[in-house]
Amino acid sequence: MSRPSPTLSLMIDAARAAGRRLVRDFGEIENLQVSQKGPADFASTADLKAEEIIHSRLSKARPGYGFIMEERGLVEGTDKSHRFIIDPLDGTLNFLHGTPHFAVSIALERDGELRGGVVFDVMRNELFWAETDQGAWLENRRLRVAARRKLEEAIVSTGIPQLGTPGRERFLAELDIVTQCVGAVRRFGSAALDITWVAAGRFDCFWERGLKVWDVAAGLVILKEAGGLAIGLNKSDPRQGDLVVGNRSLAAKLVERLEGGGPPQGKR
Ligand code: IPD
Ligand code: CA
Ligand code: CA
Repeated sequence: MSRPSPTLSLMIDAARAAGRRLVRDFGEIENLQVSQKGPADFASTADLKAEEIIHSRLSKARPGYGFIMEERGLVEGTDKSHRFIIDPLDGTLNFLHGTPHFAVSIALERDGELRGGVVFDVMRNELFWAETDQGAWLENRRLRVAARRKLEEAIVSTGIPQLGTPGRERFLAELDIVTQCVGAVRRFGSAALDITWVAAGRFDCFWERGLKVWDVAAGLVILKEAGGLAIGLNKSDPRQGDLVVGNRSLAAKLVERLEGGGPPQGKR
């Protein structure tokens, strides 16, 4: 079994600390859910508090490193080589509605390359981590992407644009394509976990557009170390947030379908 480096251990500890806070707040949400006032305000401070816990731990332990955080944005460091990329609560809508599927996501970038990733599924207490050339791990179990090669046998997860965000029509067109060639489609509500679950072989593929770097960064390290491939749609960098992930064979096939506009003749 591989052991996390000192910096990755710090990231794991920070994710667990934020997770403890989120578990407490999630308990409150479940009470607020049935109250008149509702949980919206409360939830919007839960991610801020979780981010503060992570930022304060990591900035003390690694002064000088930069940060990209969903809530606070960009914090430049004096060390221009290293940056943490943080989504303190991925799956906010699930959290807000009392659905126990959300994660803390922390990535480490060195000289522009993603080198380490931690995705912590708070309610299942599953800690996924990876470092470049050290493999991907769920606690101490090594992760591998699923070996399936046929799209028609694949379970594919995705994200659906929320009301008020762009991309609905394109999503529906892509869903039309995908539901004609894969076994089944899922929408769970946390992109970080979607990518990580592809790394763990639970989903075969994932595709979504319009994500941000903090949604995907940690998951991409875990995916790569589990033998998976991320492809940016229309030749973009997958970190920009329009992407397909899967094992090498299925990811390429799904991109071909999405960019080619549909299944080949005779396969509809
Ligand atoms: C969201 C989740 C969701 C995805 C959205 C993201 P948030 O992140 O990852 O699965 O579909 O596009 O914004 O807002 O819960 O951190
Ligand atoms: Ca997110
Ligand atoms: Ca978030």
